[in-house]
Amino acid sequence: MATLTDTNNIFITTPIYYANGDIHIGHFLTTLYGSFIASYYTEKYGKANVFFTSGIDEHGTSVEQAAKKAGYTPDRFQEYVDTITTRWQAAFLEAGLTFDYFARTTANKHQTFVQDFIVKLQQANAIYKGEYVGKYCTGCEKFLTKSDLTATGLCPQHRADQVIETIETNYFFKLSTYQEQIKSKIKTGALAIFPESKKNEILARLDTKLDDVSISRPASKVAWGIPFPGDPEQVVYVWVDALLNYLSSLHINAKNEFWPNTIHIVGKDIQWFHNVIWPGLLLAAGYEPQKTTLVHSFINIAGQKVSKSLGNVITPTELIARYGCDGAKYLVLTHFPYKDDVDITWELLDQKYNADLANGLGNIVARLTTLAQTITTPFKLVGLPAQEEQALKTRLTAQFDQDFRVDSYISGVWDQLALLDKAITETAPWTIKNEGDLKQVLENQLNTLYTLTKLSVFFLPDTAQKILVGLNQERIVKLGQLFPRLSI
Ligand code: MSP
Repeated sequence: MATLTDTNNIFITTPIYYANGDIHIGHFLTTLYGSFIASYYTEKYGKANVFFTSGIDEHGTSVEQAAKKAGYTPDRFQEYVDTITTRWQAAFLEAGLTFDYFARTTANKHQTFVQDFIVKLQQANAIYKGEYVGKYCTGCEKFLTKSDLTATGLCPQHRADQVIETIETNYFFKLSTYQEQIKSKIKTGALAIFPESKKNEILARLDTKLDDVSISRPASKVAWGIPFPGDPEQVVYVWVDALLNYLSSLHINAKNEFWPNTIHIVGKDIQWFHNVIWPGLLLAAGYEPQKTTLVHSFINIAGQKVSKSLGNVITPTELIARYGCDGAKYLVLTHFPYKDDVDITWELLDQKYNADLANGLGNIVARLTTLAQTITTPFKLVGLPAQEEQALKTRLTAQFDQDFRVDSYISGVWDQLALLDKAITETAPWTIKNEGDLKQVLENQLNTLYTLTKLSVFFLPDTAQKILVGLNQERIVKLGQLFPRLSI
């Protein structure tokens, strides 16, 4: 069931990315999903009703370590995160990904917002000082609970040397106080989690009593953080700092009315933070939790997780160089790990590119627009007959509104393109000699292409624009191969 009851003011967020390295295909995937959804709702409810953000997570141990490794001394950490931020922004620009706001956690207004929020927690009597004894993973930036650990006591995501035995004084948040409320929000769908399997994982964990969680770290260990209000010896725990980017982004842009009509997009590794800790913090400070969280799984490369140390990272720049901007977007979104992880290889991507884009859409566009050149009377394309177009659109969107499943939406459009391709082969318009007859056949097929292109703007923005402009003329523009075939 669609979850946004309010079709005004929809807030769509990607996670904010750690300023400890560069973008790879996994981050690209999360961002593309957000961009698809933002563009989908923009078409549905208008630009003014959508606010889409992304950003950079700039504090914490992993950023400190990366800055040091890159040769920066603590007094120059800001310079380091500035450099990293510029690189991420350039990567998004190259991919044609734009946001209504790009959050940075070193922004002054964000830092003040975080401190004010902590004061609200203090006033609500939701925090206390205590001692943390246990493991901390610097990769996840996470205090690991027993259920987080592998059988050998390690973090399933990171190297053994990233897991540190820790004893430290922290402020704790009384997460357990809010456990029943969080559970009930999820159960009733007030906080909807997609897909169902991810929601069930959370609910299962909520059956056992939650531990309270640390929300600060000693400044002596992590100086690179937001000072904890009223205690110069502590900084705000980076995850609390990061989660609050969502509210501070609205606050900074005077868009508070967009909360809680919100869709958070996250990977499976960070759903606990978003679906349990975040709602807990929000409830304690007097806010409603977000309405929806979409949790995707991982894209793996040739059976292995994307990891710099394994040397198997694929970057958006590499994808764009090989497949073009829209080609890269198409290939990542059609391999979308909706429920389970999805495995890719360059070979798989190449094959899919040739089949769907070069031989599929690219060929259809080239064939039809070339044949249209032989017609001497003006065209006036409008798309499929209104009822047919509406029926197709409703079929695709009704499904998407139920499950937010982007790969199914795209394959729904591609099934129709395959039918069009078949119709072109069967009618063989290039054999029709009479101009009037040819025009009739072409007009039908171009109208189908027109409608399918309109349905593709969310995932092939530049290509769809190019096709629509070309088809929207009395003399149809001859569009060559939009996706040159790769020789593989
Ligand atoms: N900084 C935190 C998020 C804070 S949000 C308040 C963080 N950053 S991250 O850079 O490590 O990851 C950001 C996103 O990229 C997460 O949603 C994560 O799941 C996603 N991905 C990283 N690798 C991925 C794959 N291999 N596949 C799909 N997405 C993955 O976590």
